This record gives sequence, structure tokens and C-alpha cells, in this order.
Amino acid sequence: MWRVKSLDAILATAQKKSLHRSLGPVQLTLLGIGAIIGTGIFVLTAAASQKAGPGMAVSFVIAGMVCAVAALCYSELAAMAPVSGSAYTYTYAVMGELLAWCVGWALILEYAVAASAVSVGWSGYVLGLIENGLGFDWPDLLQAGPTWSMNGFIPTPDFSTGIINIPAIIVALGVTFLLMIGTTESARVNAILVAVKVAALTIFIVLTLPVINTEHFSPFAPNGLFGSMSGMGIVGAAASIFFAYVGFDAVSTAAEETKNPQRNVPIGLIGSLAICTIFYLLVALGAIGAIGAQPVTGPAGEALQPGSPGFVAACAIASNANQLVCSNEALAHVLREINYPAVGNALGIAAMLALPSVILMMIYGQTRIFFVMARDGLLPEGLTKIHPKWKTPYIVTLATGIAVAVAGALFPVGQLADISNSGTLFAFFMVSIAVLILRRTEPNRHRPFKTPLVWIIAPLSAAGCAFLFWNLPHDAKMVLPIWGGIGLVVYFLYGYRKSHVGRGLVEVHETDSDIPPPPATT
Ligand code: ALA
Repeated sequence: MWRVKSLDAILATAQKKSLHRSLGPVQLTLLGIGAIIGTGIFVLTAAASQKAGPGMAVSFVIAGMVCAVAALCYSELAAMAPVSGSAYTYTYAVMGELLAWCVGWALILEYAVAASAVSVGWSGYVLGLIENGLGFDWPDLLQAGPTWSMNGFIPTPDFSTGIINIPAIIVALGVTFLLMIGTTESARVNAILVAVKVAALTIFIVLTLPVINTEHFSPFAPNGLFGSMSGMGIVGAAASIFFAYVGFDAVSTAAEETKNPQRNVPIGLIGSLAICTIFYLLVALGAIGAIGAQPVTGPAGEALQPGSPGFVAACAIASNANQLVCSNEALAHVLREINYPAVGNALGIAAMLALPSVILMMIYGQTRIFFVMARDGLLPEGLTKIHPKWKTPYIVTLATGIAVAVAGALFPVGQLADISNSGTLFAFFMVSIAVLILRRTEPNRHRPFKTPLVWIIAPLSAAGCAFLFWNLPHDAKMVLPIWGGIGLVVYFLYGYRKSHVGRGLVEVHETDSDIPPPPATT
């Protein structure tokens, strides 16, 4: 189980690919922004303020810094081994099959659960438009899943606030259908959607900054730096809002189609992260300053975890109804509160148009990881079956889409985002370690991009990921070991014996062209 997949075989696969190197720094940056801006800023701003109050502005900076160092590590491996499967493949070559399996298994949390989170975020905006724009009263029980609490180790639902999130199901299955029939997003569509998102955020900033009331910034950190319970405070909010930056790895997966990756991949990664960080910070300051961002509290003044039954009860109190923290469509809500209802609805339409492309990239990324794991024999090969007419891996796409829809139907957005973060942080942690190991074991191998100051940056990245993970809410933190345990059982029952590497098959794939091209790069 410690067997490694030969890096030479991986690189030989990469070299056989004849993908056209067409992407420059601007397209890469747009690709990154397209994958990054989504539910995090449009929706989770509310959950972040519930955790940190106005101090969430600092949370955005902390999460952005951890992503920046992780991105630098990611770039080195992505430029060196530009093959499908990203963190999973790198770990396979460096740390062996068992850990690679664990990373691949964790990436399911990153991609599939993130797709569910963005579907629920989309639902919040669409319902806001239906209710505020069209004046139609959508049944409460059909607009959100139940609230969950842990009864010992048993997750227990409370259906009094919602049964099922219908719009989240619709968007998840709609995007799945598009992927199944072979839709990939063209670079032009991506550029248009990026423009829509950036325009929406810019208008938000322009309208809110002039009406900032500095009194709204105090108390600045009502729950302190670390909070009284896990996942709260400025750092807890940083661990959650990390979700807003997830997706930048889309840039590194396009390394193989990039002109001069040594220069352009880091520009794309760091450029898209930097631009998003600036936007996020200004949006956060605008939202806080315009209408305030103080958390709602329980009957005894206690802090409440967003999405918890106590939080839902607090938001049901009439005097709290207009609080930022209680809104499912945070940014549109702020604009309505400062008397721009039409612009608020327009921002809602922008979110409604742009968020499905984030879902598309996430489900696509998930199917690609499954595909590579099945090709290595760790998952059943039937999953890689290609549809004769659509030319897509339709079975794995449909299975992924159904799972995404079910999770979106039943869980609140904040919990899904936190669970997704736990998987992502684990994968980034492993990538940071892999970079260092490979520098030791294969110092002379050609590296098109080298992480600068790697002995400082990579440990910082690993420590930053571990730190944010540690500050996730307790339930989200528990999901990773439980999910990992299930993964180990699956591995020892199936992958351990079926692994191609384990069976001595050294594979160099002629091309990766059996995998559909990534969205937005074709
Ligand atoms: N960063 C992406 C979002 O916020 C996943 O939706």
C-alpha cells in the first residue's frame, strides 16, 4: 500500500499529450476568477459575520494568505506533472498509493460537497428573486433542508424549519445534465460570466462604500479571535470563508495548456487570488459599514453557530429578520436595505446566472478525479465508461450529480462549505508536504516552476492548512476522519487488490483525451 506510481510514467503520459498550449496570463487569471467567485462571497458573508462580526474582514485576509502559500506549492507540482487528477496524482507519485487514495477520497469532499454548497447558495438567490422580485411566496418547508445536530455520533435532523431544498436539486441536476451531454464552458462564456460577477461586486462596492457608518464596526470582534466554541470568532470565520477562495486550483489543472507555464501559471494563480482578495475585502467592508454585521445571540446572549437550530430560532424573531447574518442572499439583502431594491434584484440575477458555472466546474473536477482513480484500478473501471454519442463519462457524472443534489437538498450551505473545506485543507496540506519530499528525493528533476523560498513557504502552507482545519466547527472536523475511515474500508476491500500499480501494470496512457477537456479552456 506504500507503492508509488512512477513519476516517469506519469510524466510520459503528460508528454504524450498534444494539447495546444494556448493560454496566456490573462486567460489563466480569468479562469481562476471564474472558478473562485461564487457562493463564498455572495452567500457565506452572512455566516462569516455570524461567527466574527465586523472582524470577518480580517478573516478574509487570513484565508486569502493561506490560499496564496498553498497556491505557490500547488504550482510547482502542477507545472511539473501537468496530468489529470491534481493532488491525487502528485501524492501517488510521492507518498504512495494509500495516501493518494486518502487524498482522492478527500477531494470528493472538496469538489462534490462544494458543488452542493454552491447549489444551496444559488437556491438562496433564486428564492430571494422569486419572493422579492415576483412577489411569490415559496413554501418555507421546500426552500431549505432540515437543521442538523449531533446526538452523540448520530446526526439528527430537525424538520421544523425545512424539509427539502427544491431549487438546489433543480440546479444540481440541470448542470449534471449539461455535463452529461458534453457541455463544456467555452473560454468566451467564462469571460462573460466573470465580467457579470465582477460587475455585480463592483456595483455593490460603489453603492455601499459611500454609506459606510463607522459605528457599525464596533464592537469589532464580538466573538473574539478564537470564539468560545470551535468554529467561532475571527479565526473560525477564516476557516469557513476559506471556501470563498476554493477553486484556484483550476488554474494549475490548466498548466498543460499554458504558454510558458513557468511564468504564467503562478501569475494566473496569484493574480486571480490577489484580485479576489481585494474584491472580497472591499465587499466585506461595504456590507459591514452599510448595514452592520453583528451576530444574533441566543436567549442568554450566547454565541450561536450559523445554521444551528438555535440560530434559526434567533433569526425567526421579527427584530432580527433584517440582520445581515440571517440573510440567505447577503449581498442582495444589503442593497435592498440601503434602498436600492432594483439593484439588489439585478445582483441576484447576476448570481443566478454566474453560480451554475462554478457548480459545473466542481462537478466536472469531481468526475475527472473519479475517472483517474478508476483508470488506476482503485475504483471500478465501469465508472469510466464513455457514452457512445455524447462522448462523456456519463455514469460517473450522473452518480456524482445525484449525490450533489441529495446533499444540496438536505443540508444548509454553511455546513456543506465547512465540510468541503475540511477535505480541501487536507489535500492542500498533503500537496505542501509532497513538494518538500520531492525536493529531497528528486532534487535534479526539471521543474518548470519552482516555489520560491520553498523551505519557508511549504511549511507555512502546511501549518496554515492545519490551523484552519483545526478551527473548523467540530462537526465538520469530524467528517474528515469518519469519511476517511469509510475510504480505508473501501480501499482494503477493493482498491488494494485491484490496483493496477499493485498488479505490476505500468501504464503510460497515450493521451488523456478520453477525458473531456476542462471547462473554460477549450
Ligand atoms: N470559491 C467558490 C465559491 O465561493 C467555490 O463558490
